[in-house]
Amino acid sequence: MTTLIKGGTVVSATGAGPAEVLIDGERVEAVLRPGSDIAAAAEAGAEVIDATGRLVVPGGIDVHTHMDIPIMNTRSSDDFETGTRAAAWGGTTTIVDFATQNHGENVRECLDQRMAMAEGRCAIDYGLHMIIGDVGNDSLKEMDLLVNEGITSFKLFMAYPGVLMSDDGQILRAMQQAAGNGGLIMMHAENGLAIDVLAEQAFERGETAPVTHGYVRRAELEAEATHRAVQLARVGACPLYIVHLSAKQALEQVAAARDQGANVFAETCPQYLYFSLEDHLGRPGFEGAAYVCSTPLRSRHEHHQDELWKGLRTNDLAVVATDHCPFCMKEQKEMGLGDFRAIPNGIGGVEHRMDMIHQGVAAGQISLARWVELCSTTPARMMGLYPRKGVIAPGADADIVIYDPARRWTISVDNHHMNIDHSAYEGIEVTGGVDTVMSRGRTIIDGGRYLGRAGDGRYLRRGLCQYLT
Ligand code: URP
Ligand code: ZN
Ligand code: ZN
Repeated sequence: MTTLIKGGTVVSATGAGPAEVLIDGERVEAVLRPGSDIAAAAEAGAEVIDATGRLVVPGGIDVHTHMDIPIMNTRSSDDFETGTRAAAWGGTTTIVDFATQNHGENVRECLDQRMAMAEGRCAIDYGLHMIIGDVGNDSLKEMDLLVNEGITSFKLFMAYPGVLMSDDGQILRAMQQAAGNGGLIMMHAENGLAIDVLAEQAFERGETAPVTHGYVRRAELEAEATHRAVQLARVGACPLYIVHLSAKQALEQVAAARDQGANVFAETCPQYLYFSLEDHLGRPGFEGAAYVCSTPLRSRHEHHQDELWKGLRTNDLAVVATDHCPFCMKEQKEMGLGDFRAIPNGIGGVEHRMDMIHQGVAAGQISLARWVELCSTTPARMMGLYPRKGVIAPGADADIVIYDPARRWTISVDNHHMNIDHSAYEGIEVTGGVDTVMSRGRTIIDGGRYLGRAGDGRYLRRGLCQYLT
């Protein structure tokens, strides 16, 4: 069964231009010059999709999601089925989620449980990172085995003391292990001990509202932890990927390390590019709870967002992921009424990443090619999925999005597909929207209809990071 997508502008990380894409079964067969004899020959016998006036882009790859995770006495409200379906609606065709080893738990058992949870439920292809919450001899040995099985990245926490936090010695040991097995260390870089002191002091002063979450998780404490992570990675001689970076001071640390040639990379998320401590986390009453996430939203007055956009242009920020971790207001976020420390941390956004970053194209902040690079090609290379994913080229999986760059519409809880009772993006008017989504050659979204199926998404054994300098 062959399909020809013609008439569109094919976008890659290196540019955009008219081309026709021939798909054979699950794979891209060829990218052809329009009007060429080969393109004409390919059309005969193929199903033809007319993409005139639209962009043809590699499917989005979101390398930071949390479907159905237990956190702060509840679970994120999207499971692998609802979350991957919503991702597909938004033009994302691959996610990399996390398995978690908590204190005292066995890495292998945690991974097996997580695999069973995802199995048969995903609408799009998926991989896993491993969170190592208890660095010790057993978990270090297990890291080597996991790398050989396609789990090649390990998240550590410098925050959440007593829950997931590793101390500097544990971090160094995990980094040394990664240096030996080729794994990538992903770091939640915030000084958790200092944050907990400030949080307790604020609570005792009677500051209980959601916005306090942002005040106590200070930018200096993200910068300090980022600096420490970078120095430890130098000593441990492993590549480092800072997740959900939100503070310009943390970005400075990443940029300085990169200027010296270090294998230090960072991701940011749409919420940090568009939302602020004052305008969102600081909404009246308990409304700001919808915006409680860690790292937190930063102050509008300190111009973090301008610096993050600059970082996206200079490649000091190489990836945009969502950190999709949705919680309903009712019964979930509400657990923190009267105590900001008990609000489950996370924002749902897996459906909106491609559109929100396309706003940067519409506003002239980044090019079309950079949009694709940040949302698809670099995530694939960073997480060992390239060139199977992240590019439209012969042999790649036919994960393709046909995107209308001119459509205007408004995001709302009434038109999103995530399993949340509110939208952090409510009322935002966007330019551009997904028309058609193909996952390995199958059309799963078309003209406002979902045609995918839970269980059609395959587990991806990943290779090593292909982004090292
Ligand atoms: O607030 C967040 N980021 N929730 C998800 C867990 C994490 O630290 O990534
Ligand atoms: Zn984190
Ligand atoms: Zn996360």
